Amino acid sequence: MSTIKKLVLPQMGCGTWAWGNRILWGYDKSMDAQLQEVFNLCVSNGVTLFDTGDSYGTGKLNGRSEQLLGKFDREYTGVNKDKICLATKLAAYPWRLTPKSMVKAGLASAQRMGRVDLAQMHWSTANYFPWQEEQLLDGLGDLYEQGLVKGIGLSNYGTKRLKRIHAKFSRRSIPIATLQVQYSLLSTYPVTELGIKETCDELGIKLIAYSPLCLGILTGKYTDSSTYPKGLRNLLFRRLVPEAQPVLNCLQAIAQYRNKTMAQVAINWCIAKGAIPIPGAKNVKQAQENIAVKDWQLDAGEVAELDCAAAGVDKPMIQNVFQTR
Ligand SMILES: NC(=O)c1ccc[n+]([C@@H]2O[C@H](COP(=O)([O-])OP(=O)(O)OC[C@H]3O[C@@H](n4cnc5c(N)ncnc54)[C@H](OP(=O)(O)O)[C@@H]3O)[C@@H](O)[C@H]2O)c1
Repeated sequence: MSTIKKLVLPQMGCGTWAWGNRILWGYDKSMDAQLQEVFNLCVSNGVTLFDTGDSYGTGKLNGRSEQLLGKFDREYTGVNKDKICLATKLAAYPWRLTPKSMVKAGLASAQRMGRVDLAQMHWSTANYFPWQEEQLLDGLGDLYEQGLVKGIGLSNYGTKRLKRIHAKFSRRSIPIATLQVQYSLLSTYPVTELGIKETCDELGIKLIAYSPLCLGILTGKYTDSSTYPKGLRNLLFRRLVPEAQPVLNCLQAIAQYRNKTMAQVAINWCIAKGAIPIPGAKNVKQAQENIAVKDWQLDAGEVAELDCAAAGVDKPMIQNVFQTR
């Protein structure tokens, strides 16, 4: 087995979904210079984990997010360069059927990014094609054993499935470094219903909170339908923003009292829960705001108030279709 370098994870990271996704986020190439500034600002402020996926960017934008991340990493010359952690998620595409196809996918991502530090299985196929999942996870393990990545992780796994996969990797002495799930004040299901944080703690796995701002809703800027973004989010927000009012009111009250923004309170709630949030920032202003959460903490009373408000939302954010139990 080749030497495996140690994977070090910071308290928070940065998502890069928007960096290649035209349909959902309206990405276009004119945003690249701004996104590079976002990257530089994050790293220089100690936010050194970047999460992307080989499925971020379709059609002509195929692989765009990984390519950009690789370029930004290559061109960055400031502090914390040695701490940058490039994480990608390898999709369980139906045409990826063997361990070799997963290794090939990891190598293709490394080609686009310069390297892959953390390779994650993007989703489980357990619910519709369990045989495929076994093959792909074997390939993920091969990437680690061959020293091609520093660590491996999972995404959209629930407690039962995670335990099973943990046992599978333990037989090869391969640690699972991370698990990412959709976790925010409007998506508490993985933790409150599935108990995923407890299981992660038991198994020594770091929990990553993706979509910690619930796609922007928790910033409080989407107040009514005239302010909603275009595209797929528009449909979702029409239902979700009115439902989210108890949480938004609580966020606003705490933000005002603390002289912080609602986004900062929402991200800090994830950190208070022991997760690593990876909010997506589209511009420098958003990145500055998100990064500043590292300088303060919510107290236990504030966290309890937010928990209570979150529990009062009848129909929260829909779960990822691939989330397993
Ligand atoms: N594993 C998975 O299946 C999975 C699924 C989804 C996401 N992810 C990961 O999680 C990352 C983040 O999730 P996400 O992008 O879906 O959702 P998010 O982080 O909850 O929301 C990001 C969006 O909120 C808005 N925003 C961010 N910071 C803001 C600020 N300070 N003030 C105002 N608006 C702000 C921006 O959009 P607007 O300006 O347009 O509002 C931004 O694109 C992704 O990049 C990806 O790496 C993983």
